[in-house]
Amino acid sequence: MKTISLNGKWKCKSDIENIGIQNKWYIPENYNLNDKNLKDIEIPKSFNFLNGFENFEGIFWHFYQFELNEEKDLKNNDYQIRFKGTNYNSKVWLNGRFLGEHNGGFTPFSFIVNNLIKERDNFLVVRIDNTRKKDQIPAIYFDWFNWGGIYRDVDLSILYKNRLNNVTIKTILITKQKSRIDVSYNIKGEISLKWQIFDDTKTYILYEGNVPERSGKGYFNLIINNPKLWSPNTPNLYYLRIYDISQKTEELLIFDTHFGIRQIEINGINLILNKEKIVLKGVSLHEEYMPYGRTIPHEKRKEDVLNFKSLGFNAIRTAHYSHDADLIDIADKVGILILEEIPVYWSCDFKNPQTYKTAANMLKELIWRDINHPSVIWWSVGNEVPLHNMACSKFIKSLMDLARKIDNTRIVTVVSRKLIPDLIRKSVDIATINSYFGWYFPHERMISFILDLIRTPVFNKPWIYTEFGAGAKYGFHADWDKQVKFSEEKQLQVLDYTIRTINSKDYFAGWFIWIYRDFRAPQRLNKFQKGYNRKGIVSEKNNEKKLIYYRIPKIINIKRKTYNTKILGILLWIISFPFSYLLFTRMMNQFLEHRVKKESF
Ligand code: GCU
Repeated sequence: MKTISLNGKWKCKSDIENIGIQNKWYIPENYNLNDKNLKDIEIPKSFNFLNGFENFEGIFWHFYQFELNEEKDLKNNDYQIRFKGTNYNSKVWLNGRFLGEHNGGFTPFSFIVNNLIKERDNFLVVRIDNTRKKDQIPAIYFDWFNWGGIYRDVDLSILYKNRLNNVTIKTILITKQKSRIDVSYNIKGEISLKWQIFDDTKTYILYEGNVPERSGKGYFNLIINNPKLWSPNTPNLYYLRIYDISQKTEELLIFDTHFGIRQIEINGINLILNKEKIVLKGVSLHEEYMPYGRTIPHEKRKEDVLNFKSLGFNAIRTAHYSHDADLIDIADKVGILILEEIPVYWSCDFKNPQTYKTAANMLKELIWRDINHPSVIWWSVGNEVPLHNMACSKFIKSLMDLARKIDNTRIVTVVSRKLIPDLIRKSVDIATINSYFGWYFPHERMISFILDLIRTPVFNKPWIYTEFGAGAKYGFHADWDKQVKFSEEKQLQVLDYTIRTINSKDYFAGWFIWIYRDFRAPQRLNKFQKGYNRKGIVSEKNNEKKLIYYRIPKIINIKRKTYNTKILGILLWIISFPFSYLLFTRMMNQFLEHRVKKESF
């Protein structure tokens, strides 16, 4: 396989009247380089970086002319154009012909272009519309900036006709000293293959084998004794290469990736990594690093991950959508766990089958992109959705079933902010809670009792405190005892107390500070925020580290002495039961009276 980058100097123009399709902007004859509305843009880059379009939400057309630079060989090759990330609705044409469209802002998609691509003068056109809509995922309201455009790489892959799709590498620990590696795949065409597993220097072949001529689905496995396990502290990697040896003359490399031997499980209230209990100490991260926006250079992403590790974190929650695959590769190699999520966020059109299809497609695209990354240990199918609502619960439950069907080796959950039991907490692998004690509602000193209380009905599985935090404007200070909002002192007090309290709860398998870096949030406009969410432990300028940043290494593993309020929590539930029963029956009676009246007309 060969990949040609289509990054580089593109042209683009806005389409405020939405006339581009009817005026056929996508055919080469209508493309005029003297068009004064055409602007230069260095793809990958969001069009919100263009002067005058900083807050633009609407339609932008992108144009790119490129050569194939080699003779087209349709006998042996397929030609695929791939987009790693565009936001939100993307319609794509090549040489005047429509290839298709994609909805979603954070997962890869591609088109086979065999009959359209030429050896020279190819004209690629991409219409992107980032307008928020009720039936999209996410819908109208979300707490981040809606960067639009082609903000991740675009490339052209020249694929072998006979190849493998959906290669899945499952690593099962029979014991810590004995692992089984199951490799399964779908075959396009017919292939007899040879596989080799290399050590992490990619120099020595540790294991190899052959699979005779086959089509459809394929599978092979092997036992590795005394494996070098992958974990955040020991990010040991192996490399798998698969060759098509059906051509007598040559061996074609058709698959090549790193993988890690690790196993994530749940046992009672404990999260287990490689047969040992692990507690996640993490931080959430939006994919935004100014002045790059979402198009973050590799070395900046790596710098982030190394900073997280230096603070003592062992996990990152990629809020609230999948980040560039480069971050996941770095996490595999540097050693940090990743919790991924699709942006089914707050209120969506849960009754709309098309909306469900969009969410399901995103989930499939995410899982198939990252299924072989050892750092990824969980799929979250949403965040802070109205789980008391039946339609929403069915939507979320279907997504969780889909995630488990594709990948039964990782944790599947949804991130909840419900303090009272919701319909879904019974079905998640791990219970979650977002709650901002000490910020959105009274004092963080309530947290120990409230957590014991909400945990009571869901006592048989681990919990993760997925979001807690407090805003602080970098450089704004106030007296420690004054608890002044948006002061660095207040932020430190809230986070310090919360971390030490959760560390003392054995049923919490981890926690995640919201959030590492201040990020653009257009709705947040008070004098401290000015269009940013300020709950970061560093400002959007990155080198501005707030007081809590220096405190974290000192408290990350410290437990606060808490009183055991589990018994009190159980008693409260028992006492509250009659009241809730009376309330429920009263509501049912009112509902039935209303129904009777209605039907008696
Ligand atoms: C919510 C939500 C975040 C949001 C955060 C906040 O929990 O999940 O996306 O940014 O609260 O209010 O800062």
